[in-house]
Amino acid sequence: MRSTEELSAWVRDARLRTHDLVAGLDRHQLLGPRLPIVNPPLWEIGHVAWFQERWVLRHAGGQPPVRADADLLWDSSAIAHDARWDLVLPDLSETVDYMAEVESRVRSLLETDPRPDVRYFTEYTVYHEDMHDEALAYTRQTLAYPAPRDARDQAGSGAPAGGTAGPWPGDVEIAGGAFTLGAAENEPFVFDNEKWAHTVTLAPFRIARAPVTAEQFAAFVEDGGYAREDLWSSAGWRWQQEEGATHPVYWRPVPGGWERRDFDRWVALEPHHPVLHVSAYEAEAWCAWADRRLPTEAEWEMAAASEPGGRGRRRFPWGQATPTPARANLEGLAGGVLDVAALPEGDSAWGCRQMLGNVWEWTASDFRPYPGFVPDAYRDYSEPWFGTHRVLRGGCWRTRARLLRNTWRNFYTPDRRDVWAGFRTCARA
Ligand SMILES: [Fe+2]
Repeated sequence: MRSTEELSAWVRDARLRTHDLVAGLDRHQLLGPRLPIVNPPLWEIGHVAWFQERWVLRHAGGQPPVRADADLLWDSSAIAHDARWDLVLPDLSETVDYMAEVESRVRSLLETDPRPDVRYFTEYTVYHEDMHDEALAYTRQTLAYPAPRDARDQAGSGAPAGGTAGPWPGDVEIAGGAFTLGAAENEPFVFDNEKWAHTVTLAPFRIARAPVTAEQFAAFVEDGGYAREDLWSSAGWRWQQEEGATHPVYWRPVPGGWERRDFDRWVALEPHHPVLHVSAYEAEAWCAWADRRLPTEAEWEMAAASEPGGRGRRRFPWGQATPTPARANLEGLAGGVLDVAALPEGDSAWGCRQMLGNVWEWTASDFRPYPGFVPDAYRDYSEPWFGTHRVLRGGCWRTRARLLRNTWRNFYTPDRRDVWAGFRTCARA
């Protein structure tokens, strides 16, 4: 278990990041438009503090509520998503005061009574805040707000380098066989959906060394891929028709090529960046066009965590050591994604690059419980989403490093393209 000093520092660090993500937004931007894929930022920052109060102070610490109306304002399980714009929310300064009060009580509880459940729920709520912070960051992309304050200002450490490293084509061949999918019981902290390690048997497969690039995706767009029903699944074609999609959501054609919107700025499409902000349907249509397929999540994890000859199992693609800027593009330090050939130090044992960081990768797998699944105390983390969501793996350039390991499962509905998601492919057998 983490030390109380480390946990206390994480509580502070996560809260600073949360404040940075709403810095500079005016009253209207803090509420934003009523869209199913975003939360009002003002609501979301209060919610992360409420969640910490709910689980650390009240559930583990046995304390009375900080505010009598907190559950009526910020309980995500009780307040329907589209009702969040209709609440009479405290204004920004009152919300910030509530956040500060919760933080100070949590840190003092850690100091005075650091029982295992206090520490467990503190860690849980830091990760919860990290996930909301990534959502707040992509909300700023969705709503064309300016980029959030650069994370480098806070971290004061070197950014991942390799923005012009180029493409990284080709496949690696993985022998298949028995593989242990999921988290082992000696993992210090895991979410319910990673439990527990269990053996699966995979056929040999070939998986790309890198995710599909913007240039590779543009070739599909320019070949009329969005108009060819035969390339799309039936659900995907329905989605394409409803959305009227003719290219990735933040692209626009310009003479001689494409531009993409990066927060509130238009920039020339970087050919060797991974393609970003595509739905699982768009990923699958590209695969059909290129005679490829998405990996299953078991294949993805085997390519990230196993070693040739079945010798060992790695916590991260490169081994057991924690992420650094030379191994993975995380934490927001680079300000965006890097070329897919960047960061060779992060290669998996098989030679797959950037499996952690840079861009989330859609898989072919529906989000389902592993055998023997039991929900965590916060029951709504995974269970409500089984069967309707799709698994993504790997993390993106904004994801906090402390969240991730090879067994980490993210999940969104396959129509989502607001997330920093791309995809890696496998050869068809
Ligand atoms: Fe939440």
